[in-house]
Amino acid sequence: MSEEATPFSGEIDWGALRTEAEEAMRRAYVPYSRFPVGAAALATDGRLVAGCNVENASYGLTLCAECSLVSMLHMTGGGQLVAFTCVNGDGEVIMPCGRCRQLLYEHSVSGMMLETGYGIRTIDEVLPDAFGPRDLEEFHA
Ligand code: THU
Repeated sequence: MSEEATPFSGEIDWGALRTEAEEAMRRAYVPYSRFPVGAAALATDGRLVAGCNVENASYGLTLCAECSLVSMLHMTGGGQLVAFTCVNGDGEVIMPCGRCRQLLYEHSVSGMMLETGYGIRTIDEVLPDAFGPRDLEEFHA
């Protein structure tokens, strides 16, 4: 997680992010759970990135929507995540699973905002006392 300053100190268009997440959700490959998820985020340079879940007959190999979102972040130019939302098949905002909170933490600006069913939260609020890249840097310094 970098200290890179976000150019988005002002308003985040959460409606636009949710629309993007819903579009991604419609591409989900979910023959096993039938629980499509779409995720969308704003990157530091203003790009919108998105992802959907992709399941596997070997259930544990399922890729969450956040995995494909992070891949898109790097495939389309890198940077960090500034604001994030994800939705279920009804378009309702859901919380990222524990593993995905860690995944997002790695690629987010400090204080990245997440939309939740109970308001906007920061990544630090939903993953307190996180282990992250800085812990490794300190160890190897
Ligand atoms: N899922 C996600 O894509 N992201 C999450 O944060 C929660 C869970 C997916 C994984 C699986 O395909 C389905 O939702 C049911 O768990």
